Amino acid sequence: MHLTLIGTGFVGVVTAAVFASFGNEVVGLDIDQKKVDSLSKGVVPFFEPDLEALLLEQQKSGHLTFTTDYHTAITSAEVIMVAVGTPSAADGQADLTYLFSALDSLAPHLHKETIIVIKSTVPPGTLEVIDLRLQRLTKVPYHLASVPEFLREGTAVWDTLHPDRVVLGATNFDVFEKLELLHQPLNAPMIRVKAASAQMAKYSANAYLATRITFINQIADLCEKNDADIEEVIAAISPDQRIGKHYWYPGFGYGGSCFPKDVSELAAYSRSVGEENNLFNNVHELNTRRIPKIMDQITQEVGGWKDKKVAVLGLSFKPNTNDMREAPALKTIEYLVAAGAVIQAYDPQALETAIHFIPDHPNVSYFSRLDEATKDASVILALIEWPQITDFDFSTVKNDLLEQWFIDARNQFDPKKIKAWGYNYRGIGR
Ligand code: UDX
Repeated sequence: MHLTLIGTGFVGVVTAAVFASFGNEVVGLDIDQKKVDSLSKGVVPFFEPDLEALLLEQQKSGHLTFTTDYHTAITSAEVIMVAVGTPSAADGQADLTYLFSALDSLAPHLHKETIIVIKSTVPPGTLEVIDLRLQRLTKVPYHLASVPEFLREGTAVWDTLHPDRVVLGATNFDVFEKLELLHQPLNAPMIRVKAASAQMAKYSANAYLATRITFINQIADLCEKNDADIEEVIAAISPDQRIGKHYWYPGFGYGGSCFPKDVSELAAYSRSVGEENNLFNNVHELNTRRIPKIMDQITQEVGGWKDKKVAVLGLSFKPNTNDMREAPALKTIEYLVAAGAVIQAYDPQALETAIHFIPDHPNVSYFSRLDEATKDASVILALIEWPQITDFDFSTVKNDLLEQWFIDARNQFDPKKIKAWGYNYRGIGR
């Protein structure tokens, strides 16, 4: 099948490479010449395990090309997938500017019946708005569908190749049939639904997981008010099959490009349809306030931050990515800088990204070696569960001349071991 992916961000590149690997003729289209040049040379402009190898392989096979030219990309396409960003606007709702701009640009180049699939996360009702817009721009017949994306960063290639399900949102029987054919090699259950249901499914999945994380974070906070240990509580409730084990570890709150945005968009959407008092407002608020709240508590415990060296370990929002969108490091470093700490930051992949995300400050320096970042630190703050951090032997960097705190922001370490090495230990909810 001839397939065009518009938007060569995270979802676009992974989806393009995976569908090319199934033998489709895939074109990745973006208005950003730099990105297209980079991808055309087989260089992925962000860190994602296994993606570059897949990209190179598909480019060599001739099934995958990239361009900035709408005419080339659209005229031969049987299916066009739009995977441009839909960031939150000032009122919290999804900003559809990039989506509309992509559709306005593609419309004049349609010249045969085409299926236009929206992969970007959009609120229910968006296909109707798009339809009105496209009707004014083209007389060529097209069909609209919504096929949301559920891949995670860091495991994007695996997730795209092994989805738990494929949600196809459309109305026309032939469109369902063609989209099923396209997704057949994934060997996953296909769920045919209305477009609005597909859009609600995407928001629901992310909002549910974010709510679950917020729930366990709240329980962890309550455990700190008594003698309970959140890890024991989790071990005690997870075997209940109605509850399960996933998305259940407490920490500094959820981050990334999806959960914060999607929860706040669902809250804004709820308000816009008259559901002022909704769960999602609260989940969003609780997560937003979480880092300052925990940091206030830690401040008391470590006795303030003025001129203290603090090793901040893990800058990306999670392991195996260099993405720092809504990463806990951002608010944590902002807090520490304001409190006068001297920050020694480490990350295995995100140091270059950090330059764009963290304002320059004489008190913030970056290290590509963990042992250097922890040197003479009064506080070691293990923010992200990168294996380079969780597997590190912190006994080797203990400075016996200093009273040192070890803050385990994701409960990844054995408190007994850390204490035995001479650190004061502080986890979450234990
Ligand atoms: C998420 C969804 O999982 C994915 O289906 C969707 O397509 C995009 O958004 P992603 O943002 O890549 O994927 O990361 P994910 O692994 O889901 O983690 C999101 C955030 O929640 C991270 O900040 C992570 O650290 C945090 N998290 C996750 C927790 O705090 N506790 C958990 O138990 C799980």
